[in-house]
Amino acid sequence: MNISLNTRFADRFLNPELLNQNLKASQTAYELLLSKKGAGSEYLGWIDLPDSMEDSEIKRYLEIASIIRKNSKYLVVIGIGGSYLGARAVIEAIQNPFDSYDENNIKIIYAGHQLDADYHNRLLKFLEDKEFSVNVISKSGTTTEPAIAFRLLIDLLEKKYGKNGTKQRVFATTDSSKGALKKFSDEYGFETFVIPDDVGGRYSVLTPVGLLPIAVAGLDIAKIVEGARTMRKQLISEKDSMKNLAMKYASYRNSIYQLGKNVEILVNYNPSFHFFSEWWKQLYGESEGKGHKGIFPASVDLTTDLHSMGQYIQDGERILFETVVSFDKPHHDIVLGERAGDLDGLNYLKGKELSWVSSKAILGTLVAHSDGEVPCLELVIPKLDEFNLGQLIYFFEFACGISGYMLNINPFDQPGVEDYKNNMFALLGKKGYEQKKSEIESKLNSL
Ligand code: PA5
Repeated sequence: MNISLNTRFADRFLNPELLNQNLKASQTAYELLLSKKGAGSEYLGWIDLPDSMEDSEIKRYLEIASIIRKNSKYLVVIGIGGSYLGARAVIEAIQNPFDSYDENNIKIIYAGHQLDADYHNRLLKFLEDKEFSVNVISKSGTTTEPAIAFRLLIDLLEKKYGKNGTKQRVFATTDSSKGALKKFSDEYGFETFVIPDDVGGRYSVLTPVGLLPIAVAGLDIAKIVEGARTMRKQLISEKDSMKNLAMKYASYRNSIYQLGKNVEILVNYNPSFHFFSEWWKQLYGESEGKGHKGIFPASVDLTTDLHSMGQYIQDGERILFETVVSFDKPHHDIVLGERAGDLDGLNYLKGKELSWVSSKAILGTLVAHSDGEVPCLELVIPKLDEFNLGQLIYFFEFACGISGYMLNINPFDQPGVEDYKNNMFALLGKKGYEQKKSEIESKLNSL
Protein backbone atom coordinates (compact mmCIF):
# COMPACT_ATOMS: atom_id res chain seq x y z
CA MET A 1 0.00 0.00 0.00
CA ASN A 2 1.20 3.50 -0.87
CA ILE A 3 0.55 6.79 0.90
CA SER A 4 -2.71 8.16 -0.48
CA LEU A 5 -4.68 11.40 -0.36
CA ASN A 6 -8.44 10.96 -0.05
CA THR A 7 -10.56 14.03 -0.79
CA ARG A 8 -14.07 12.67 -0.18
CA PHE A 9 -14.66 15.09 2.75
CA ALA A 10 -13.45 18.11 0.76
CA ASP A 11 -14.90 17.59 -2.71
CA ARG A 12 -18.36 19.02 -2.04
CA PHE A 13 -16.84 22.37 -1.01
CA LEU A 14 -14.88 22.74 -4.22
CA ASN A 15 -15.90 24.31 -7.46
CA PRO A 16 -14.51 21.92 -10.15
CA GLU A 17 -13.38 24.83 -12.29
CA LEU A 18 -11.33 26.33 -9.44
CA LEU A 19 -9.80 22.94 -8.69
CA ASN A 20 -8.89 22.49 -12.35
CA GLN A 21 -7.19 25.87 -12.44
CA ASN A 22 -5.16 24.91 -9.40
CA LEU A 23 -4.26 21.52 -10.84
CA LYS A 24 -2.92 23.34 -13.89
CA ALA A 25 -1.08 25.86 -11.70
CA SER A 26 0.47 23.00 -9.74
CA GLN A 27 1.78 21.53 -12.99
CA THR A 28 3.48 24.83 -13.83
CA ALA A 29 4.88 25.10 -10.30
CA TYR A 30 6.10 21.48 -10.48
CA GLU A 31 7.94 22.16 -13.73
CA LEU A 32 9.45 25.34 -12.29
CA LEU A 33 10.64 23.45 -9.23
CA LEU A 34 12.26 20.69 -11.25
CA SER A 35 13.79 23.11 -13.77
CA LYS A 36 15.48 24.77 -10.77
CA LYS A 37 14.79 28.18 -12.29
CA GLY A 38 12.28 29.52 -9.77
CA ALA A 39 12.78 31.83 -6.78
CA GLY A 40 15.21 30.46 -4.22
CA SER A 41 16.65 27.94 -6.69
CA GLU A 42 20.00 28.15 -4.92
CA TYR A 43 18.36 26.18 -2.07
CA LEU A 44 17.07 23.18 -4.01
CA GLY A 45 19.75 20.73 -2.95
CA TRP A 46 17.14 18.81 -0.91
CA ILE A 47 15.42 17.60 -4.11
CA ASP A 48 18.27 15.23 -4.99
CA LEU A 49 19.50 14.47 -1.46
CA PRO A 50 17.95 11.00 -1.11
CA ASP A 51 19.54 9.82 -4.35
CA SER A 52 22.86 11.58 -4.04
CA MET A 53 23.48 10.31 -0.51
CA GLU A 54 26.47 7.96 -0.45
CA ASP A 55 26.42 4.79 1.66
CA SER A 56 29.64 6.07 3.20
CA GLU A 57 27.77 9.07 4.67
CA ILE A 58 25.22 6.82 6.35
CA LYS A 59 28.07 4.63 7.58
CA ARG A 60 29.80 7.64 9.13
CA TYR A 61 26.63 8.75 10.95
CA LEU A 62 26.21 5.20 12.29
CA GLU A 63 29.84 4.99 13.41
CA ILE A 64 29.70 8.30 15.26
CA ALA A 65 26.31 7.38 16.70
CA SER A 66 27.75 4.20 18.10
CA ILE A 67 30.66 6.12 19.71
CA ILE A 68 28.16 8.50 21.33
CA ARG A 69 25.98 5.61 22.50
CA LYS A 70 29.02 3.93 24.07
CA ASN A 71 30.31 6.87 26.07
CA SER A 72 27.07 8.70 26.91
CA LYS A 73 23.72 8.15 28.57
CA TYR A 74 22.41 11.43 27.16
CA LEU A 75 22.85 13.29 23.92
CA VAL A 76 21.95 16.97 24.07
CA VAL A 77 20.85 18.16 20.63
CA ILE A 78 21.35 21.93 20.50
CA GLY A 79 19.48 23.70 17.71
CA ILE A 80 16.41 25.72 16.83
CA GLY A 81 13.85 25.62 13.99
CA GLY A 82 15.05 23.49 11.11
CA SER A 83 18.16 22.63 13.08
CA TYR A 84 16.29 20.44 15.57
CA LEU A 85 12.64 19.91 14.60
CA GLY A 86 13.26 17.25 11.94
CA ALA A 87 15.29 15.05 14.27
CA ARG A 88 12.81 15.48 17.11
CA ALA A 89 9.87 14.80 14.76
CA VAL A 90 11.26 11.47 13.62
CA ILE A 91 12.70 10.34 16.96
CA GLU A 92 9.52 11.01 18.92
CA ALA A 93 7.27 9.61 16.18
CA ILE A 94 9.02 6.25 16.05
CA GLN A 95 10.68 5.63 19.39
CA ASN A 96 8.66 3.76 21.97
CA PRO A 97 8.01 6.56 24.51
CA PHE A 98 8.26 4.11 27.40
CA ASP A 99 11.78 3.09 26.37
CA SER A 100 12.94 6.36 27.86
CA TYR A 101 12.17 4.94 31.33
CA ASP A 102 14.69 2.17 30.69
CA GLU A 103 18.00 3.38 32.07
CA ASN A 104 19.96 1.31 29.54
CA ASN A 105 18.72 3.42 26.65
CA ILE A 106 20.41 6.62 25.56
CA LYS A 107 18.13 9.63 25.88
CA ILE A 108 17.97 12.60 23.56
CA ILE A 109 17.52 15.96 25.26
CA TYR A 110 16.89 19.21 23.39
CA ALA A 111 18.35 22.62 24.19
CA GLY A 112 18.97 25.93 22.48
CA HIS A 113 15.44 26.07 21.05
CA GLN A 114 14.38 28.76 23.55
CA LEU A 115 15.93 31.08 26.13
CA ASP A 116 14.25 29.98 29.34
CA ALA A 117 16.67 30.38 32.25
CA ASP A 118 14.89 27.80 34.42
CA TYR A 119 15.02 25.15 31.68
CA HIS A 120 18.73 25.63 31.08
CA ASN A 121 19.52 25.86 34.81
CA ARG A 122 17.70 22.61 35.49
CA LEU A 123 19.35 20.96 32.51
CA LEU A 124 22.83 21.94 33.71
CA LYS A 125 22.08 20.67 37.23
CA PHE A 126 20.66 17.42 35.84
CA LEU A 127 23.69 16.79 33.64
CA GLU A 128 26.26 17.56 36.36
CA ASP A 129 26.64 13.90 37.33
CA LYS A 130 25.58 12.28 34.03
CA GLU A 131 27.61 10.98 31.11
CA PHE A 132 26.64 13.12 28.15
CA SER A 133 27.65 14.36 24.70
CA VAL A 134 26.49 17.33 22.67
CA ASN A 135 25.49 17.65 19.03
CA VAL A 136 25.38 21.37 18.31
CA ILE A 137 23.59 22.21 15.07
CA SER A 138 23.45 25.60 13.37
CA LYS A 139 23.74 26.28 9.68
CA SER A 140 24.51 29.97 10.09
CA GLY A 141 26.51 29.25 13.20
CA THR A 142 25.38 32.59 14.64
CA THR A 143 21.86 31.98 15.98
CA THR A 144 21.67 33.30 19.53
CA GLU A 145 19.58 30.57 21.21
CA PRO A 146 21.79 27.58 20.28
CA ALA A 147 24.97 29.64 20.71
CA ILE A 148 24.02 30.47 24.31
CA ALA A 149 23.03 26.86 25.11
CA PHE A 150 26.32 25.65 23.63
CA ARG A 151 28.32 28.11 25.70
CA LEU A 152 26.58 26.88 28.87
CA LEU A 153 27.08 23.23 28.02
CA ILE A 154 30.67 23.47 26.88
CA ASP A 155 31.53 25.13 30.19
CA LEU A 156 30.01 22.13 31.97
CA LEU A 157 31.70 19.62 29.66
CA GLU A 158 35.10 21.20 30.26
CA LYS A 159 34.52 21.17 34.02
CA LYS A 160 33.61 17.49 33.92
CA TYR A 161 35.91 16.10 31.25
CA GLY A 162 38.65 18.68 30.68
CA LYS A 163 39.57 20.06 27.25
CA ASN A 164 40.54 16.70 25.75
CA GLY A 165 37.53 14.82 27.07
CA THR A 166 35.28 17.58 25.76
CA LYS A 167 36.74 17.16 22.30
CA GLN A 168 35.51 13.55 22.29
CA ARG A 169 32.00 14.65 23.25
CA VAL A 170 31.16 17.58 21.01
CA PHE A 171 29.84 16.99 17.50
CA ALA A 172 29.15 20.10 15.45
CA THR A 173 26.87 20.22 12.43
CA THR A 174 27.29 23.47 10.53
CA ASP A 175 28.29 25.25 7.34
CA SER A 176 31.37 24.02 5.45
CA SER A 177 33.21 27.31 5.85
CA LYS A 178 31.16 30.17 7.38
CA GLY A 179 29.94 31.15 10.84
CA ALA A 180 31.14 31.27 14.42
CA LEU A 181 30.37 27.59 15.08
CA LYS A 182 32.61 26.48 12.21
CA LYS A 183 35.44 28.66 13.52
CA PHE A 184 34.91 27.42 17.06
CA SER A 185 34.91 23.78 15.91
CA ASP A 186 38.08 24.15 13.87
CA GLU A 187 39.86 25.86 16.73
CA TYR A 188 38.83 23.16 19.24
CA GLY A 189 39.16 20.23 16.84
CA PHE A 190 35.57 18.98 17.20
CA GLU A 191 34.24 16.31 14.85
CA THR A 192 32.16 18.27 12.33
CA PHE A 193 29.39 17.49 9.88
CA VAL A 194 28.57 19.72 6.94
CA ILE A 195 25.14 21.10 6.07
CA PRO A 196 25.22 21.47 2.28
CA ASP A 197 25.16 25.10 1.09
CA ASP A 198 22.12 24.45 -1.09
CA VAL A 199 19.91 22.97 1.66
CA GLY A 200 18.00 25.33 3.98
CA GLY A 201 17.30 24.52 7.64
CA ARG A 202 13.73 23.29 7.31
CA TYR A 203 14.61 21.07 4.34
CA SER A 204 17.60 19.50 6.11
CA VAL A 205 16.21 16.41 7.90
CA LEU A 206 17.91 14.13 5.40
CA THR A 207 21.37 15.60 6.09
CA PRO A 208 23.48 15.13 9.26
CA VAL A 209 21.19 17.74 10.87
CA GLY A 210 18.51 15.08 11.22
CA LEU A 211 20.24 11.81 10.49
CA LEU A 212 22.97 11.95 13.16
CA PRO A 213 20.67 12.46 16.18
CA ILE A 214 18.17 10.00 14.69
CA ALA A 215 20.95 7.40 14.40
CA VAL A 216 22.01 8.06 18.00
CA ALA A 217 18.42 7.36 19.05
CA GLY A 218 18.85 3.92 17.48
CA LEU A 219 16.49 4.34 14.54
CA ASP A 220 17.11 2.92 11.07
CA ILE A 221 18.36 5.91 9.07
CA ALA A 222 18.97 3.85 5.93
CA LYS A 223 15.25 3.03 5.86
CA ILE A 224 14.36 6.73 6.20
CA VAL A 225 16.55 7.55 3.21
CA GLU A 226 15.09 4.60 1.29
CA GLY A 227 11.57 5.91 1.96
CA ALA A 228 12.53 9.38 0.75
CA ARG A 229 14.15 7.87 -2.34
CA THR A 230 10.99 5.90 -3.14
CA MET A 231 8.79 8.98 -2.79
CA ARG A 232 11.22 11.07 -4.86
CA LYS A 233 11.05 8.55 -7.69
CA GLN A 234 7.25 8.64 -7.67
CA LEU A 235 7.02 12.42 -7.55
CA ILE A 236 9.62 13.01 -10.23
CA SER A 237 8.16 10.47 -12.66
CA GLU A 238 4.40 11.12 -12.27
CA LYS A 239 3.46 14.12 -14.41
CA ASP A 240 -0.32 13.91 -14.03
CA SER A 241 -1.29 16.45 -11.36
CA MET A 242 -4.22 14.35 -10.08
CA LYS A 243 -1.99 11.28 -9.71
CA ASN A 244 1.11 13.03 -8.39
CA LEU A 245 0.59 13.13 -4.62
CA ALA A 246 2.45 16.42 -4.13
CA MET A 247 0.69 18.27 -6.97
CA LYS A 248 -2.66 16.91 -5.80
CA TYR A 249 -2.13 18.00 -2.19
CA ALA A 250 -0.83 21.44 -3.24
CA SER A 251 -3.82 21.90 -5.59
CA TYR A 252 -6.44 20.92 -3.02
CA ARG A 253 -5.00 22.97 -0.18
CA ASN A 254 -4.72 26.04 -2.41
CA SER A 255 -8.25 25.55 -3.78
CA ILE A 256 -9.60 25.38 -0.23
CA TYR A 257 -7.52 28.43 0.76
CA GLN A 258 -9.13 30.36 -2.10
CA LEU A 259 -12.52 29.67 -0.47
CA GLY A 260 -11.38 31.82 2.45
CA LYS A 261 -10.27 28.91 4.63
CA ASN A 262 -7.02 30.44 5.82
CA VAL A 263 -6.01 27.94 8.48
CA GLU A 264 -4.92 24.38 7.77
CA ILE A 265 -4.92 22.07 10.77
CA LEU A 266 -2.70 19.01 10.56
CA VAL A 267 -4.66 16.45 12.54
CA ASN A 268 -3.20 13.26 13.98
CA TYR A 269 -4.58 10.43 16.07
CA ASN A 270 -1.17 9.21 17.28
CA PRO A 271 0.33 11.12 20.23
CA SER A 272 3.84 10.28 19.07
CA PHE A 273 3.17 12.33 15.91
CA HIS A 274 3.03 15.59 17.88
CA PHE A 275 6.51 16.80 16.94
CA PHE A 276 6.08 15.76 13.35
CA SER A 277 3.27 18.31 13.24
CA GLU A 278 5.63 20.88 14.76
CA TRP A 279 8.12 20.14 11.97
CA TRP A 280 5.32 20.41 9.36
CA LYS A 281 4.17 23.75 10.83
CA GLN A 282 7.69 25.12 10.53
CA LEU A 283 8.08 23.81 6.99
CA TYR A 284 4.85 25.37 5.73
CA GLY A 285 4.75 28.45 7.98
CA GLU A 286 8.29 29.56 7.28
CA SER A 287 8.08 28.67 3.61
CA GLU A 288 4.70 30.16 2.70
CA GLY A 289 3.96 33.00 5.11
CA LYS A 290 5.22 35.83 2.92
CA GLY A 291 3.96 38.98 1.19
CA HIS A 292 0.91 38.97 3.49
CA LYS A 293 -0.11 35.63 1.99
CA GLY A 294 -0.07 31.98 2.98
CA ILE A 295 -2.16 29.39 4.76
CA PHE A 296 -1.63 29.51 8.54
CA PRO A 297 -0.46 26.03 9.59
CA ALA A 298 -1.85 24.74 12.88
CA SER A 299 -2.09 21.29 14.44
CA VAL A 300 -4.07 19.23 16.92
CA ASP A 301 -3.51 15.84 18.54
CA LEU A 302 -6.74 13.86 18.55
CA THR A 303 -8.72 12.51 20.15
CA THR A 304 -7.07 14.42 23.06
CA ASP A 305 -7.76 17.90 21.65
CA LEU A 306 -11.34 17.07 20.70
CA HIS A 307 -11.99 17.83 24.36
CA SER A 308 -10.46 21.27 24.06
CA MET A 309 -10.12 22.54 20.49
CA GLY A 310 -12.87 20.25 19.18
CA GLN A 311 -15.58 22.78 20.04
CA TYR A 312 -13.88 25.56 18.07
CA ILE A 313 -13.22 23.34 15.08
CA GLN A 314 -16.83 22.21 15.01
CA ASP A 315 -18.48 25.54 15.60
CA GLY A 316 -16.13 28.54 15.80
CA GLU A 317 -15.04 30.88 12.97
CA ARG A 318 -15.35 29.05 9.63
CA ILE A 319 -11.78 29.73 8.53
CA LEU A 320 -10.47 26.20 8.95
CA PHE A 321 -9.70 23.13 6.93
CA GLU A 322 -7.97 19.93 7.96
CA THR A 323 -5.40 17.51 6.68
CA VAL A 324 -5.94 14.36 8.70
CA VAL A 325 -2.97 12.01 8.95
CA SER A 326 -3.80 8.43 9.85
CA PHE A 327 -1.87 5.18 9.83
CA ASP A 328 -3.50 2.11 8.40
CA LYS A 329 -2.08 -0.40 10.90
CA PRO A 330 -0.57 -0.12 14.36
CA HIS A 331 2.57 -2.10 15.20
CA HIS A 332 0.65 -4.18 17.75
CA ASP A 333 -3.08 -4.09 18.19
CA ILE A 334 -5.06 -4.76 21.40
CA VAL A 335 -8.28 -6.74 21.48
CA LEU A 336 -10.81 -5.60 24.06
CA GLY A 337 -12.03 -8.29 26.44
CA GLU A 338 -15.23 -8.91 28.36
CA ARG A 339 -15.89 -8.14 32.03
CA ALA A 340 -18.44 -9.84 34.19
CA GLY A 341 -21.24 -7.47 35.12
CA ASP A 342 -20.39 -5.01 32.33
CA LEU A 343 -20.31 -2.16 34.86
CA ASP A 344 -18.41 0.13 32.46
CA GLY A 345 -20.90 -0.68 29.68
CA LEU A 346 -18.14 -1.66 27.27
CA ASN A 347 -18.99 -5.31 26.68
CA TYR A 348 -20.52 -4.37 23.34
CA LEU A 349 -16.94 -3.81 22.17
CA LYS A 350 -15.81 -7.30 23.22
CA GLY A 351 -13.49 -8.81 20.61
CA LYS A 352 -12.93 -5.48 18.85
CA GLU A 353 -9.43 -4.14 18.24
CA LEU A 354 -8.43 -0.75 19.64
CA SER A 355 -7.35 0.35 16.14
CA TRP A 356 -10.91 -0.39 14.97
CA VAL A 357 -12.31 1.80 17.78
CA SER A 358 -9.87 4.54 16.77
CA SER A 359 -10.88 4.26 13.10
CA LYS A 360 -14.49 4.92 14.13
CA ALA A 361 -13.37 7.98 16.11
CA ILE A 362 -11.56 9.24 13.00
CA LEU A 363 -14.55 8.65 10.75
CA GLY A 364 -17.06 10.10 13.20
CA THR A 365 -14.94 13.22 13.58
CA LEU A 366 -14.47 13.61 9.81
CA VAL A 367 -18.24 13.46 9.30
CA ALA A 368 -18.87 15.92 12.16
CA HIS A 369 -16.25 18.42 11.02
CA SER A 370 -17.25 18.35 7.37
CA ASP A 371 -20.88 18.78 8.48
CA GLY A 372 -19.58 21.82 10.36
CA GLU A 373 -18.26 23.27 7.06
CA VAL A 374 -14.65 22.26 7.64
CA PRO A 375 -13.24 20.64 4.47
CA CYS A 376 -11.06 17.66 5.37
CA LEU A 377 -8.29 16.02 3.36
CA GLU A 378 -7.16 12.56 4.47
CA LEU A 379 -3.58 11.41 4.17
CA VAL A 380 -3.51 7.66 4.74
CA ILE A 381 -0.14 6.10 5.52
CA PRO A 382 0.45 2.34 5.79
CA LYS A 383 2.48 2.36 9.03
CA LEU A 384 4.29 4.71 11.40
CA ASP A 385 7.83 3.52 10.72
CA GLU A 386 11.13 4.80 9.35
CA PHE A 387 10.40 3.99 5.69
CA ASN A 388 7.03 5.73 5.67
CA LEU A 389 8.29 8.75 7.60
CA GLY A 390 11.07 9.08 5.02
CA GLN A 391 8.38 9.08 2.33
CA LEU A 392 6.25 11.56 4.24
CA ILE A 393 9.11 14.01 4.86
CA TYR A 394 10.03 14.07 1.19
CA PHE A 395 6.39 14.35 0.12
CA PHE A 396 5.69 17.32 2.40
CA GLU A 397 8.90 19.10 1.33
CA PHE A 398 8.14 18.62 -2.36
CA ALA A 399 4.49 19.66 -2.00
CA CYS A 400 5.62 22.73 -0.06
CA GLY A 401 7.91 23.81 -2.89
CA ILE A 402 5.06 23.43 -5.40
CA SER A 403 2.54 25.16 -3.15
CA GLY A 404 4.92 28.07 -2.50
CA TYR A 405 5.42 28.62 -6.22
CA MET A 406 1.64 28.47 -6.74
CA LEU A 407 1.40 31.32 -4.24
CA ASN A 408 4.06 33.21 -6.15
CA ILE A 409 6.43 33.49 -3.23
CA ASN A 410 9.94 32.19 -2.56
CA PRO A 411 9.41 29.09 -0.39
CA PHE A 412 13.11 28.78 0.41
CA ASP A 413 13.97 31.98 2.27
CA GLN A 414 12.85 33.39 5.62
CA PRO A 415 13.28 37.18 5.69
CA GLY A 416 10.76 37.52 8.52
CA VAL A 417 12.90 35.38 10.82
CA GLU A 418 15.88 37.62 10.15
CA ASP A 419 13.85 40.66 11.33
CA TYR A 420 13.47 39.41 14.89
CA LYS A 421 17.05 38.14 14.98
CA ASN A 422 18.37 41.58 13.99
CA ASN A 423 16.19 43.41 16.53
CA MET A 424 17.36 41.05 19.23
CA PHE A 425 21.03 41.55 18.31
CA ALA A 426 20.47 45.31 18.46
CA LEU A 427 18.74 45.17 21.85
CA LEU A 428 21.45 42.89 23.22
CA GLY A 429 24.07 45.46 22.18
CA LYS A 430 25.84 43.32 19.57
CA LYS A 431 28.56 45.10 17.62
CA GLY A 432 27.41 46.38 14.22
CA TYR A 433 23.79 46.90 15.29
CA GLU A 434 24.14 50.39 16.87
CA GLN A 435 21.99 52.13 14.24
CA LYS A 436 19.23 49.51 14.57
CA LYS A 437 19.36 49.92 18.34
CA SER A 438 18.74 53.66 18.22
CA GLU A 439 15.87 53.13 15.74
CA ILE A 440 14.21 50.65 18.11
CA GLU A 441 14.77 52.90 21.10
CA SER A 442 13.11 55.87 19.43
CA LYS A 443 10.20 53.60 18.44
CA LEU A 444 9.87 52.42 22.03
CA ASN A 445 9.99 56.00 23.34
CA SER A 446 7.12 57.00 21.09
CA LEU A 447 4.81 54.27 22.44
O1 PA5 B 1 14.48 26.71 8.28
C1 PA5 B 1 15.25 27.58 8.61
O2 PA5 B 1 16.07 28.06 7.82
C2 PA5 B 1 15.28 28.12 10.03
O3 PA5 B 1 14.24 27.62 10.79
C3 PA5 B 1 16.60 27.75 10.68
O4 PA5 B 1 16.72 26.36 10.68
C4 PA5 B 1 16.66 28.28 12.11
O5 PA5 B 1 16.47 29.66 12.10
C5 PA5 B 1 18.02 27.96 12.73
O6 PA5 B 1 19.04 28.53 11.99
P1 PA5 B 1 20.54 28.06 12.16
O7 PA5 B 1 20.63 26.63 11.79
O8 PA5 B 1 21.31 28.94 11.22
O9 PA5 B 1 20.93 28.27 13.59
